[in-house]
Amino acid sequence: MTFDQAILQRISNRKYLDIPLSPQDVTILEKAVAQVNRDSGLHTRLVREAPEAFRSLRKSYGMLSGVRNYIEMAGPAGDPDLMEKCGYYGQQLVLLATTLGLGTCWLGGTYDKELCQQKILSTDALCCVIAIGPVADSRSVKEKLVRGTIQHKSKALSELARGMGDGPDWFMAGVAAVQRAPSAMNRQPIRFTYEKGAVTAEIVEEGSFSHIDLGIAKYHFEIGAHGGVWTWGSPGTFEKAAEEKSCGAVIWKKTESGHAYLLAQHGASHWSFPKGHVEGRETEIETALREIREETGLDVTIDESFRQVVTYYPKPGVIKDVIFFIAQPTGGTEQAQEEEIRQLGWFTFEEAYPLVTFATDVEVLQAAEAYIQEKLS
Ligand SMILES: Cc1cc2nc3c(=O)[nH]c(=O)nc-3n(C[C@H](O)[C@H](O)[C@H](O)COP(=O)(O)O)c2cc1C
Repeated sequence: MTFDQAILQRISNRKYLDIPLSPQDVTILEKAVAQVNRDSGLHTRLVREAPEAFRSLRKSYGMLSGVRNYIEMAGPAGDPDLMEKCGYYGQQLVLLATTLGLGTCWLGGTYDKELCQQKILSTDALCCVIAIGPVADSRSVKEKLVRGTIQHKSKALSELARGMGDGPDWFMAGVAAVQRAPSAMNRQPIRFTYEKGAVTAEIVEEGSFSHIDLGIAKYHFEIGAHGGVWTWGSPGTFEKAAEEKSCGAVIWKKTESGHAYLLAQHGASHWSFPKGHVEGRETEIETALREIREETGLDVTIDESFRQVVTYYPKPGVIKDVIFFIAQPTGGTEQAQEEEIRQLGWFTFEEAYPLVTFATDVEVLQAAEAYIQEKLS
């Protein structure tokens, strides 16, 4: 599931199942939390098996039940953009959790803030927590009731934005993504404007959590518009990113004990799958075949029915989509491309899982494993 799809799927879940997060979900979430902290300077933390912050009857007006895990959205108290950063980066974690099939709910009020505050650094401020955990597929009656009382319909696009008629398609797509953004009491207090080629977002209704809402809305806009960079603050301005694309594959083969994956160590740093830039008018498959041949020396057959997209920013102002297929070797001689690949290696799923560096690639590996298991069974 991509983040665009996660935006459509996500709702606030208030009823959680009485089971822990799976070890695989914990690994992905911990990696993402660490990445968010590196990117933002925030001190977010996944707190597991801590239901006490949601037990007190006094705090139960949000009708939450079964919450065992949450993410602390905290950071340096002196940071003037702290609330907005918590919204922007917290929503990244929310959408990631949605792609994992987990439920989430932003909580500004319905939790024991004093208890949670005791766990953070004395120089930090706690802005919010995000409840996170396994949920039932269909929503409970109680949840529908809460949604019915505090949730109204999303605002119309015309209420959320000005200059829609003059803006490019990506502006419209960005605002459509904002329509699905969570906000405290569903107020949706942010307006987006397109004027003379410039995009801005500003708070039009101040409230205790409006700066968190601003960060969340900016992040949704960025996903919908397919990449860009925001300045912090209200108003904040948006610079649309240039778009790049790479293609590659998760390469696997049957072994005596089961099956193994081919991983490549790119440069001195990260482990991932073979991949590279689309050149000229190449199709996605042509790029994947060429790059695999260049980086690994192998010829492969590609299974197009598996297609996963990973999106990230390789540098400021550039957004990159990486398309991964699944492939099996058919020939060639395995050899790592000297300039780009430090080493190649075949690993079982259990070995590959902790080795793959980026959380998004771990998800691709997981999806590939599920796909292969089904194919082999
Ligand atoms: C900053 C913030 C604080 C929130 N606080 C609470 C809360 O304390 N209790 C609660 O039940 N929901 C809370 N929510 C969830 C909103 O009520 C919910 O996002 C909104 O009604 C829209 O519904 P949806 O998320 O299902 O689209 C909060 C949301 C945000 C963004």
